[in-house]
Amino acid sequence: MTRKTVRIAMNGVTGRMGYRQHLVRSILAIREQGGLDLGDGTVLWPEPVLVGRREHALQEIAEHHHLTHWSTDLDAVLADETIDIYFDAQVTSAREEAIRKAIAAGKHIYTEKPSATGLDAALALARLARNAGIKHGVVQDKIFLPGLLKLKRLIDGGFFGEILSVRGEFGYWVFEGDWQDAQRPSWNYRAEDGGGIVVDMFPHWEYVLHELFGRVTTVQSHVTTHIPQRWDEHGKPYAATADDAAYGIFQLEGGAVAQINSSWTVRVNRDELVEFQVDGTHGSAVAGLRNCRMQHRSATPKPVWNPDLPVTHSFRDQWQEVPDNDTYDNGFKAQWELFLRHVALDDPYTWDLLAGARGVQLAELGLKSSAEGRRYDVPELSL
Ligand SMILES: NC(=O)c1ccc[n+]([C@@H]2O[C@H](COP(=O)([O-])OP(=O)(O)OC[C@H]3O[C@@H](n4cnc5c(N)ncnc54)[C@H](O)[C@@H]3O)[C@@H](O)[C@H]2O)c1
Repeated sequence: MTRKTVRIAMNGVTGRMGYRQHLVRSILAIREQGGLDLGDGTVLWPEPVLVGRREHALQEIAEHHHLTHWSTDLDAVLADETIDIYFDAQVTSAREEAIRKAIAAGKHIYTEKPSATGLDAALALARLARNAGIKHGVVQDKIFLPGLLKLKRLIDGGFFGEILSVRGEFGYWVFEGDWQDAQRPSWNYRAEDGGGIVVDMFPHWEYVLHELFGRVTTVQSHVTTHIPQRWDEHGKPYAATADDAAYGIFQLEGGAVAQINSSWTVRVNRDELVEFQVDGTHGSAVAGLRNCRMQHRSATPKPVWNPDLPVTHSFRDQWQEVPDNDTYDNGFKAQWELFLRHVALDDPYTWDLLAGARGVQLAELGLKSSAEGRRYDVPELSL
């Protein structure tokens, strides 16, 4: 085996996603497994160069993981010809400028979603990347989750018949930060810093719906800020200017309708933090992050509405667990591996900056729909 090094500038590795999912669970995990076997006698060896604003935080991470390269000077890192890929997991509002610079420096781009805070900027990045002839990818991790992979298996196997509707429930209580620390960063609740649940979650719903059921053709939403004041990382109160809940209805190509609630102000009475119920003429399924259960039409009970009688059986128990039939890797790592193969071998890769722009488009139209109280068509994007 020959080892080929791929050097990746990783910006935002001190953050939640950058550190845990991308550095530790993806890039370092690939190194722990001996690199990425390209199947042609070559092993790709990712070498992260940590980039950020706080030297001591970068140094601490580097030392903890026995890494030797870190820098607070993005321009210098981008000017380094040995760097192949620029990865961005910064706060969303800082992303566009950094990606522009990285494209101009000729680096391949891999980025967290949303790729930008507005559609014009997201499309501009996709065009710049295409014109520069570089490879580019946007994180779309949810479709690599075991629960959704099992759901996809049911769809591909024809289990549902005609799919009629999708009901998504996402959310949990994010503490306000006064009497218990908030478990998400405070910028998520400030519109001026790129926060808000629509900008955060609609990009995910766009590719989940698109890949599993059909392109989103219309959006209608009600978006709100239920909790107007929160407390930041330093215990200081601030005005929560961004939305913390969104109630959306999406029509899909092919005729199905999807209805997804996204909320940071809801307490969990579900098995998983996100669940999608899919109802079809021949069967239904409920998929979460890891699990998926199904009910075929031949095993569907026949409830009769009668509030005078107590329910005598458990509807929940009448569903069947979809077996694993496979081993599932971390979704972020799985997508990183596909992107690295795309860079090294030119393998096909569809989750690019144009796909990322579709997510930004849905978020933008979702916010507009709510502000104006009307349903919006979602035009098909092209470059
Ligand atoms: N794919 C997913 O499931 C998923 C989940 C959560 C967040 N995200 C995305 O990942 C990105 C990072 O989110 P996070 O939750 O890790 O955030 P975070 O606040 O934990 O981390 C943000 C990172 O950006 C850096 N940064 C750069 N400029 C900054 C500035 N001006 N102010 C504050 N921080 C700055 C921070 O140092 C830190 O490294 C966001 O774009 C978010 O949308 C994706």
